[in-house]
Amino acid sequence: MRKPIIAGNWKMNKTSLEAIAIAEELKRDLVDVGGVDIVVCPPFTALQSVSEALTDMNIAVGAQNVHWVDNGAFTGEISASMLKDFGARYVIVGHSERRQYFGETNETVNKRLRAALAHGLTPIVCVGENLAEREAGKTFDVIKNHCEGSLAGLSGDEAGRIVIAYEPVWAIGTGRTATPQQAQEAHAFIRQLLEKLFSADVAGDVRIQYGGSVTPENIASLIAQPDIDGALVGGASLKAQPFATIVKAALSSK
Ligand code: PGA
Repeated sequence: MRKPIIAGNWKMNKTSLEAIAIAEELKRDLVDVGGVDIVVCPPFTALQSVSEALTDMNIAVGAQNVHWVDNGAFTGEISASMLKDFGARYVIVGHSERRQYFGETNETVNKRLRAALAHGLTPIVCVGENLAEREAGKTFDVIKNHCEGSLAGLSGDEAGRIVIAYEPVWAIGTGRTATPQQAQEAHAFIRQLLEKLFSADVAGDVRIQYGGSVTPENIASLIAQPDIDGALVGGASLKAQPFATIVKAALSSK
């Protein structure tokens, strides 16, 4: 059985004081919740304060990006060892906003992913098609390209340690969620691909999150699908109450 995993992607939101406030609230709301991995991904500037606020809690902290080199002349970048130093255990790589606005490619996603794994961080690798690609019938081609490119050269062992987030770009921040059937179809496709690329064991172990306008209202029907193991939540993770509700609903509906 794959343990469900719910992660909040706070994107470029929250000062450290605001971030601590939400972390404190989540702590109270989720203190007794087990059987699900809970992750929050604040901006870099709030990583340390949120990690401190969540010390010894059942909520892990993740970053939203990582550079592949450990240190050096890379102005503006942050390395995996720096993230670990700040208490991060997870890192999102290849989010569509980074692919779209910051020139992220499969090749750079792959390098970031390997750096994360090499330092013992769990990468949450984002894949997914945009609206034009879906309408052109290219959804599976895009997913295949993102998965093959981003995961290139990984051993089965390494692949078994990642989390994949299927995030159709047209569903991100739009209020237009994929239907549970659309999401399940994509997740099943990714799982088959993992079997082809690695092994049946890896395919059976890797958790695949859905992301794109997840809310307390739609999480139950999404997570009830056999290949949906969790969610990467943007907008609804910016307040404690909806995020905590999503975590609890995910647990009770899986
Ligand atoms: P959303 O964002 O929940 O606001 O659609 C999801 C994401 O971008 O990870």
